[in-house]
Amino acid sequence: MIEVTVLARNDEALDICSLELAAVDGAPLPAFSAGAHIDVHLPGGLVRQYSLCNHPGERHRYLIGVLKDPASRGGSHAVHQQLQAGARLTISAPRNLFPLAENAQRSLLFAGGIGITPILCMAEHLARSGAQFELHYCARSAERAAFVERLQASPFADRVTLHFDEQPATALNAAQVLAGPHAQRHLYVCGPGGFMQHILDSARAQGWAEEQLHREYFAAAPTDTANDGSFKVKVASTGQVFDVAADRSVAQVLESHGVEIQLSCEQGICGTCLTRVLEGVPEHRDMYMTPAEQALNDQFTPCCSRSKTPLLVLDI
Ligand code: FES
Repeated sequence: MIEVTVLARNDEALDICSLELAAVDGAPLPAFSAGAHIDVHLPGGLVRQYSLCNHPGERHRYLIGVLKDPASRGGSHAVHQQLQAGARLTISAPRNLFPLAENAQRSLLFAGGIGITPILCMAEHLARSGAQFELHYCARSAERAAFVERLQASPFADRVTLHFDEQPATALNAAQVLAGPHAQRHLYVCGPGGFMQHILDSARAQGWAEEQLHREYFAAAPTDTANDGSFKVKVASTGQVFDVAADRSVAQVLESHGVEIQLSCEQGICGTCLTRVLEGVPEHRDMYMTPAEQALNDQFTPCCSRSKTPLLVLDI
């Protein structure tokens, strides 16, 4: 945990602000790589993940961008309404679940809306290291596109293409951009779920392999819970067995019995709650693990995943 001060807060676009954070004691912050995020402990006890969008060589500050989301579960409202320059916060050290592939000969970066934050950091890194890349930034309108001035003033401005819904002439033709896959090309996408699905589906249709596709979700897609059933979980260390009703998560049940599970996103995105499974078959609902990791069925995310078998034995 790191104590930080909000050095500056800036409006970057309609409903998007940035926060510049520095250690309270003035010490250098932990190094990070492009695509990394931090957990930010917000007023009211919420913990949210935000991608770092400054240059990954910087140690004197972290920069995050935050969208005021009408569907917010509280995190983005807390930032927009309560955080000003001078505020103090606790953050985690950076973690990277969205790293750049090391062997790429060319990288295609796709950002939708606030998804520009990790993509911007990647572009800074790729440009600095002399790598080949192009960046496509899609937003509803120019006024909703953050960091455009920074992009246009950057040394890689000629590799950035802006696409705005309100200007049909600028529409992204994903199939064209993704045509002709090459084994050493890698694609990175971050943004709203529908946008990401479109980019990923277009890439697959053009023959891109799964290992060339990299993504980071900001929010889980809605899950159909109509057919959820009940099951039991057993705490291996104590032998206690608890019922998980259809309308409760494993994490909720465990916590209600005093078994503490570390939680953050509570949507299967961050991996904070990852728990080993000793017996039984989980029904995975996370977006944190790869399909190959999920298929091993030896761990699951109790914040959102359920069980295919009547009993799950957990290594806690
Ligand atoms: Fe984030 Fe469970 S709390 S995956």
